[in-house]
Amino acid sequence: MYRKFVPVVIALLVFSACSKEVEEVDNYDPARDYFTFSNTGQFATDHLALDLNVDFEAQELRGFAMLSMRRLEPAATEIVLDTRDLTIASVVVLQDGNTAPAEYRFGDTDDTLGTPLYIAVPEATGEQFDLMIEYHTSPQSTALQWLPPELTAGGKHPLMFSQSQAVHARSWVPLQDTPAIRITYEATVRTPAALLAVMSANNDPLTPRTGEYHFEMPQPIPSYLLAIAVGNIYFAPLGEDTGVYTEPELLDASVFEFADTQAMLEQAEAMFGPYDWGRYDLLVLPPSFPYGGMENPRLSFITPSLLAGDRSLVSVIAHELAHSWSGNLVTNATWRDGWLNEGMTSYIESRLMEVIYDVKRVDEERVLMYRELLLDLESVPEHMQALAPRLDDTTSEDFQGTIHYSKGQLFLEYLENAFGREAFDQFLASYFKEFAYGTITTERFLDYLELNLLSQEDSPVNREQAEQWTYQPGLPEGVAIPQSENLDAAAAMADAWADGDVELEDIPFADYSPQATIHFINSLPADLSFAKLAELDAGLGLSETRNAEIGRTWFIQVASRRYTDAYEAMEAHLNRFGRGRLIAPVYRALAANGEDLELAREMFARARDAYHPITAGWIESGLANAMD
Ligand code: BES
Ligand code: ZN
Repeated sequence: MYRKFVPVVIALLVFSACSKEVEEVDNYDPARDYFTFSNTGQFATDHLALDLNVDFEAQELRGFAMLSMRRLEPAATEIVLDTRDLTIASVVVLQDGNTAPAEYRFGDTDDTLGTPLYIAVPEATGEQFDLMIEYHTSPQSTALQWLPPELTAGGKHPLMFSQSQAVHARSWVPLQDTPAIRITYEATVRTPAALLAVMSANNDPLTPRTGEYHFEMPQPIPSYLLAIAVGNIYFAPLGEDTGVYTEPELLDASVFEFADTQAMLEQAEAMFGPYDWGRYDLLVLPPSFPYGGMENPRLSFITPSLLAGDRSLVSVIAHELAHSWSGNLVTNATWRDGWLNEGMTSYIESRLMEVIYDVKRVDEERVLMYRELLLDLESVPEHMQALAPRLDDTTSEDFQGTIHYSKGQLFLEYLENAFGREAFDQFLASYFKEFAYGTITTERFLDYLELNLLSQEDSPVNREQAEQWTYQPGLPEGVAIPQSENLDAAAAMADAWADGDVELEDIPFADYSPQATIHFINSLPADLSFAKLAELDAGLGLSETRNAEIGRTWFIQVASRRYTDAYEAMEAHLNRFGRGRLIAPVYRALAANGEDLELAREMFARARDAYHPITAGWIESGLANAMD
């Protein structure tokens, strides 16, 4: 989730969204999804049935998508679907047992949005009908990564996985690719015999490994939650309703690391209402998975970089689980309202972590998050610092830094402080009930907040104050700045050690959490000598750390300080991980240190084949925009 590599995108947004006056005359509609071609006011999809063959040799999915459609406007006779790099073999309309070929054509391709597919459905087709589309994907599908055996843990079988959020479902299924539409789905997936397919649907842990798998997702979901993975994947239970899928080589480590998943699920239900999705499982993917996690319903996709051996990075699991309520049950209406998915999820993640672990640990994470937010506020242009910014026809994926995560969380913490935990928990539980299986805009959220909390007598917060958070840049007054005594102590130690007032062996690192170690590293003064860096590296084993977040922090420092003794280890880090957050900022620090842009490009060229195209894209645009 690293978002700093998009100055070009941001520049475009600045250019197209200058002043309020312009907004008023140019028909900008905050409730419209600008990231779809589909005409959802005229037609809606209710159900999707997929029948797909997984061809590792051709790196293609091939088969049929049947869309059950409803005509909302009687006069509308053309459906627009989203596609990207899809080859369509035929389109057939099925209605009341009759089939008829449909006329179709592609429109012009847009880099961000893909290619619209226009399908003629004359009035005679009636109000409800099915579209049967025969198609195959391209090896360039932006959603799919096809990994050769060498890039898996086992090294013997290939593996394929999808990442649909935000606008990539269209590169493996032709559909209305917008959170405005919710669909149920079913799928038949055929794979090479030894492999297992899993989806964001009802995975049966005991399913026979026949090479033909059936899935059903009876709850309606937005398209960005469609997900599939195929590989040499096995299952192990974590609790009664929870478990983990991964390659056999990672199974034991995953069972250990994520042992608290069942407890997290039960705690979330106690706080926010029933978990409505059946089982909750994790899929631990190879290192090239571009994110920490992705909340695919019933089956979160997870980076293996969480396997630190000490459960110190499992807040990502709490986060993806929390999305079962904030995001999957109540979904942001458009990507402009992304804070309602991510900010609310970050808030719930912290609340869960407080109960499962303790508040001190969570306060440490809050302080680290706040530090990243302040850095982002330095680089994200002002109009993009609103929780709900003006967001139109440019990429939805990289526009706001971590702002909708951390500023969103701080907004909800501000409300919680103002109204009290009990009242705010009740508010959230009723919000999830009220909007379940629906979508929500920022404006509707504010209305609901006003109705239930702000309008009460002597309310400590008024609508204007709430709107400061959603529409204004920076941080409003009254924000509760996260504090952690443990991290303050670590920062003080960093100073004292840098000044020579304390010896390294006298610092109680053994008692430090990974978060405290991270804060210690981040707090070192800019002019620290290389001799001191060497002492620290040797003393704490930073270059060899098993903790990916400590490694990230260390190698950002190594790169920005040009501590070349650790460059070899840094390159090993860049090759070991493919999660954007862990590597993109290291490349950026290298490119920005005044000497190593060329070296960053060389290291990227050596590593890039193993990276996911999404991650490679972030790094590439970062390096392209760096000053020579
Ligand atoms: N839904 C996001 C990942 C995402 C966001 C994918 C936007 C595509 C577009 C996921 O839930 C997430 O937030 N992942 C974070 C986890 C972290 C904040 C705990 C990540 O990957 O770092
Ligand atoms: Zn998230």
